[in-house]
Amino acid sequence: MKTSGSPIVDIHTHVYPPSYISLLKARTSIPYVRSFPPSPSLRLVILPAEDTESTSRGRPVGAEYYDINEKIKFMDTHDIDISVISLANPWLDWVPSSEASQAAKDINDEVDAECAKFPGRLFAFATLPLSGGTEVIIAEIERLKTLKYMRGIILGTTGLGKGLDDPELIPIFKALQAANLPIFLHPHYGLPSSVWGERSNDYGHVLPLALGFPLETTIAVTRMILADVFSTVPDLQMILAHSGGTLPFLAGRIESCIEHDAHLQAEGKLGAQRKTVWEILKKNIYLDAVIYGDVGLKAAMQASGEDRIMFGTDHPFFPPLEGEGQRWKSVDTNYEAIKNARGEGSEGARLALGGNAVRVLNLST
Ligand code: URA
Ligand code: ZN
Repeated sequence: MKTSGSPIVDIHTHVYPPSYISLLKARTSIPYVRSFPPSPSLRLVILPAEDTESTSRGRPVGAEYYDINEKIKFMDTHDIDISVISLANPWLDWVPSSEASQAAKDINDEVDAECAKFPGRLFAFATLPLSGGTEVIIAEIERLKTLKYMRGIILGTTGLGKGLDDPELIPIFKALQAANLPIFLHPHYGLPSSVWGERSNDYGHVLPLALGFPLETTIAVTRMILADVFSTVPDLQMILAHSGGTLPFLAGRIESCIEHDAHLQAEGKLGAQRKTVWEILKKNIYLDAVIYGDVGLKAAMQASGEDRIMFGTDHPFFPPLEGEGQRWKSVDTNYEAIKNARGEGSEGARLALGGNAVRVLNLST
């Protein structure tokens, strides 16, 4: 879906750089990479729900996960001019505290160097050393300013271990605000496996990926809203994966539950200065377009505004189950959703496909 006048930008596209794959190969519990004899091929196991016999233990991990040349090939096949790459989940969440600082420096330097191999085509979201403590994290945020291709950071929903409404995160959010680095918020942990029921092993990865991921994101951001993070750090910018989970759809209900909550009222939290969910969606939040349907995409566009939606693919996840070399259905479904929501060649489509990303993430070269 080429649109003249502005490049196509993929802001949701992952890599596991070779050094990260080496770290995973040395591990035996999630996240890990290993082969399961008799098959010699390597498999990546990152989610608790996929560390079971019934899910064949994770997924095959080929060059598309770690070879940057494969990313460029994928971009060329799918008409993508620029990609903003990010380390895929679960990032460095599991790294021992004493190793976090060095691990983040190594990964961020490596990813920046990969971008430098294709100037103008690749930018990146950096990874934070979350287990290293506040000082180490803020030092890395400062250091990111010296890396040419970094345009934000990718973050999971656990923060320092207690979620994103943790007051201990405020200095980190303030450092990101000051450095003008948006947070690309991405799920990983999903919901407790008990909610999927006794038959969940019969259903592959569908429930955790289709529902667990988006609900995880929705809950994380709603907790931030309830903790008033966006008043304390008013210019914090967040790009939410998967069009904000279910946030655009549920914003009215969340807002209404807040307005009708006697506890919040008694605590004096419902005054005129309160930022509504709708205001936060339009001021602090950008939404990717990785929602695979125009109904969800229209909700996202309406909730945050056409100037806050950004195309993404989630490559290398969701490849075609069979066959190689051809275009990926998961990518074309997201192109199709933009076309159906706004019309091919429309201003809304141009903004979603790349105009917004170029402007917000400063990608013009
Ligand atoms: N599965 C993952 O674990 N991560 C993604 O980003 C997409 C699918
Ligand atoms: Zn993703």
